[in-house]
Amino acid sequence: TVLDPDPERVVRREVRVPPGVTVFDSASWNGIAIDSTCGGHGTCHKCKVRLDSAGAITRHDVKTFTRDQLDAGWRLACLVNATRDLAVDVPPLTTRPKAATVGVGRQVILRPAIQKRYVELDEPTLADQRPDLVRLLDAVDDLEPTPDLHVLRRLPRVLREADFKVTAVVVDESLVDVEPGDTTGAQYAIAFDLGTTTVVATLLDVSTGTPVAVASMLNRQQPFGGDVITRISATMLDPDALHRLQQAAAQTLATLAAQVCAEGEVDPAHVYEVALAGNATMTALVLGVDPEPLGVAPFVMSTAHPPTVLAADLGLALHPRARAAIFPALGAYVGGDIVAGMLATGMDRDKRTRLMIDVGTNCEIVLSNGDRIVSTAAPAGPAFEGGAIRCGMRAAEGAIEVVKLGEDVELGVIGDIDPKGLCGSGLVDAVAELVKVGLLDGSGRFVPDEDAPSVAPALADRLTRIGDERVFVLHRPHPGADPADCVVLSQRDVRELQFAKAAISTGWSLLLEELGLEPRDVQQVLMAGSFGSYLSPASAVRIGLVPTLPVLRIVSAGNVAGEGAKMALLSLRERAGATALTEEVTYVELSDRADFNDRFVDQLAFHGANGG
Ligand code: FES
Repeated sequence: TVLDPDPERVVRREVRVPPGVTVFDSASWNGIAIDSTCGGHGTCHKCKVRLDSAGAITRHDVKTFTRDQLDAGWRLACLVNATRDLAVDVPPLTTRPKAATVGVGRQVILRPAIQKRYVELDEPTLADQRPDLVRLLDAVDDLEPTPDLHVLRRLPRVLREADFKVTAVVVDESLVDVEPGDTTGAQYAIAFDLGTTTVVATLLDVSTGTPVAVASMLNRQQPFGGDVITRISATMLDPDALHRLQQAAAQTLATLAAQVCAEGEVDPAHVYEVALAGNATMTALVLGVDPEPLGVAPFVMSTAHPPTVLAADLGLALHPRARAAIFPALGAYVGGDIVAGMLATGMDRDKRTRLMIDVGTNCEIVLSNGDRIVSTAAPAGPAFEGGAIRCGMRAAEGAIEVVKLGEDVELGVIGDIDPKGLCGSGLVDAVAELVKVGLLDGSGRFVPDEDAPSVAPALADRLTRIGDERVFVLHRPHPGADPADCVVLSQRDVRELQFAKAAISTGWSLLLEELGLEPRDVQQVLMAGSFGSYLSPASAVRIGLVPTLPVLRIVSAGNVAGEGAKMALLSLRERAGATALTEEVTYVELSDRADFNDRFVDQLAFHGANGG
């Protein structure tokens, strides 16, 4: 709940976040601003929130709150982890921030491309016949903006109708508008994470760095195929498909833009810039550029640095001169979304050895040793999104997302309803737990029937068959239900997961080798993206999806592409940092490595299994 002294303006939002993320980050990733000047590092003592069931009290809480406040549930948001359902009261902001906390604990000094200046100009006289434009530019000479024709056409009328009291709107050193009166309170931009599956939009007030509204929806390109390869193929088979894919992307962006503006009660004409972070295929398609060369060897992009275009060219009805800044890419399969992710996680600024894994159909992997950064892409296939899995589904209501095996099966289901299927994190958990209890052996095979009861007697009767295939029943809709009507994990599902995890672990193990590192040298693993962020670190370690490390070194990074897009809008310096990253990072191509197949086969096994 976002509290406000005016009860009419109290906002209630329900959000879902990866377990273990701080309340401060959870709020920030979901467009809810909490006071802070330290960026979530526990030193400013400003991020006060009230929790319905507050847990431990830290020494910082003791310094900040009275005994009564602590008893009432007040805590510092950056020091509380969301590990269960929590109701959180958030007071309104008390300070106008100069910096914003974005991404994974990144503190960004506000220097947006959008700048507004309210000026009261001297009216012309016979003694002062300076042209209108000179009169305006003299008043905003600190910004040194370049005017365009659109402004020139409006200028004489706006100046006179507004009694020469106007606001100059500058975007990245271009004078894009002159507005009557003082409109400096309205400086907005939209950050888009243009995902293959889901698109997320965040409306930002760039003058304060605060998010105003967030919305997400499935990419309308879905009917053309679930992954980038099928969408590229669609353009190769049907000459009209590129246009239709472009239109579908434009409609997705336009719908979300309208939604966040309505929710934030912001006039779309006050949105002057958007930033777009997407993979190379999504970027090509939204621009209407032929993606075919991305899909066939040698996998070439039309450009690594898309030009700045008008938001209107992308079908967005915002300010008519609003710009769209599009993230640069490293390669056909390490796109602008990953560059944005590197920005959001500060991969280039941290001295630690860090590994970022964005798990998806195409899995992008980045490794930094504080000196060099290397990256690659691994074709993980659709298993993590529920594709090619017998009872697979996306992480939506009814999806099993947590599996624990003890005396019996314990399930966590999205929406707390009867399970309908298994999503990626549930799949990883199920396999990891079956390996742990010994029902799956190191090669990924269910143990023989006769061995099952001795391994785990209470679970053994869940191991059954559908036709010839062995399956483990996770959920029976009613006692005695036919296995075909149950939510099961099949032997083939386990194989699919093995292929996916082997592709990913081959990727990071080759990157480690590239930098002369051992898995144990990795100080932090950042699990990024809508799927990776929800993975249980313990399960990811158990199946070998990530290096074998203490689970505390494995952290959810959230939607890093969207966070990077926000940073680019809040700071031109950070935006330049994204471009610099494309020079700094070395892209390692896996598909031309002679040893790829041998390594892949090595990585198929579950090394943590008994006897594996
Ligand atoms: Fe500064 Fe929590 S954000 S103490």
